[in-house]
Amino acid sequence: MRLVNGFTLMKYAKENNLVLPAFNTTNYELTLAIVQAFEHTGLGGYIQISSNNLKLSNPEIIANMVSLIVKKENISVPISLHLDHGKSFEDVKNCIDAGFTSIMFDASNLPLDENIAAVRRVVEYAHYFGIPVEAEIGGIKGKEDEEVSTVDDKTKPEDVQYFVEQTKCDTVAVSIGNVHGLDLAPELDFELLEEIERVTPVPLVLHGGSGIPFEQVRKAKSHNIIKINYGSQLRKSYIETFGKAYEKNHNEFDFFSLGCQAVNNVTGTAKAIIQEINIRN
Ligand code: G3H
Ligand code: ZN
Repeated sequence: MRLVNGFTLMKYAKENNLVLPAFNTTNYELTLAIVQAFEHTGLGGYIQISSNNLKLSNPEIIANMVSLIVKKENISVPISLHLDHGKSFEDVKNCIDAGFTSIMFDASNLPLDENIAAVRRVVEYAHYFGIPVEAEIGGIKGKEDEEVSTVDDKTKPEDVQYFVEQTKCDTVAVSIGNVHGLDLAPELDFELLEEIERVTPVPLVLHGGSGIPFEQVRKAKSHNIIKINYGSQLRKSYIETFGKAYEKNHNEFDFFSLGCQAVNNVTGTAKAIIQEINIRN
């Protein structure tokens, strides 16, 4: 199977009553592990990379790598390639040109009217190519790549409908007590989520999946959350593999077998997430 368009993936989620996991990648091993986890569980979702992480590679390298892995592994479940926390219009254009099938544009640090203007421009461009756009209202605390945000600016329900009408975005990432990274504890405000759910014309996205108890994710799913992002938990599984080997032996240099172990460990972590958020009740 080829990479699937983001609209098609959302339709698949609705038809199968799924919350779609979106796993962050940076390199080959993480990507292979994520793809294998999707195939082993028989459920699809997103592979995503942030504007910030794209600085280590570029959209073309990532899109070609992900497409090749999906082809080589004979993947039968739907997988979309998503730009996560897109920070510039240039990144959006480059990702769409390279073959990304879903986009997030994050202008949530700007005042609402400027966020709207920036997202509207991206939506007009992406929709021309038939690609959906996720936007964010409110600020999420914690560590997002190299930036640490201490601003807990929860999404205001009264902004949501106006924002979606003005921008025509396809999903909205909300700030409801979710946090980025593993240093802070998330405290999801379900009352706020319900208020947002009542007024939102589009499905919602939850960032900062790592560290949110699975039963809370399953509960969020019943409040119109269609996508949940997981970054830190997978990266931790990957890095731990190398860290433990180095602790044991400072002269360890068997990169191939450690790489294979890292793939196995990340696949295990991602599989558990996919199953816990969708299958167990
Ligand atoms: O955009 C990516 C994420 O929201 C990942 O958050 O590292 O806390 O899982 P996390
Ligand atoms: Zn995020």
